[in-house]
Amino acid sequence: MALHFAKRITEYRLAKDLFTRGKSIILSPEAQVMKRFTQHGETTVFEHCVAVAKYSLLIAYSLEKLFRIEIDKDSLVRGALLHDYFLYDWHEKGQGRRFHGFTHPGVALKNADRDFDLNEIEKDIIVKHMFPLTPFLPSHRESFIVSLADKWCALAETFKIDVSSYIIYRVNFSIALTNGDYSIDYGETVAEA
Ligand SMILES: [Fe+2]
Ligand SMILES: [Fe+2]
Repeated sequence: MALHFAKRITEYRLAKDLFTRGKSIILSPEAQVMKRFTQHGETTVFEHCVAVAKYSLLIAYSLEKLFRIEIDKDSLVRGALLHDYFLYDWHEKGQGRRFHGFTHPGVALKNADRDFDLNEIEKDIIVKHMFPLTPFLPSHRESFIVSLADKWCALAETFKIDVSSYIIYRVNFSIALTNGDYSIDYGETVAEA
């Protein structure tokens, strides 16, 4: 019970940090379009990107704490949130998506560069996240981190291991709160006699 509570607090802090750093992307109508497409299993591309941002942040915290390696966490989160911003259903055949695994980082970068203001680290994260499947060596440590987090999340989602549902819930809750469209249903109350 105590361990579960401690884990929830960590996840709560993570979600808060993730939302603060990725706010401008998360709240944009463009990023919300990723909710329409499925990534692995029953996970949407949006959920996958939030999960990758979560694990990227966790790796960054660990590297900073254990080895005092400095990480640009703002770029890390923003790059992770947009790393699969390719905006099509890759499961549908006949759309020239046969080589999705190799081509989607380039498509995601093109779309993200069109819709958001990206720095060099964020661009590198997006276009090189499939390394080593695509032979372009990441130029920044942030890109290595996202590439690693992406592989873990893809594995977890494919085998239906729940590692991100709480953070996805928190992020969606924060979106609803910010947009002011969240109403709490308290259910029916019965007046005491
Ligand atoms: Fe990808
Ligand atoms: Fe991915």
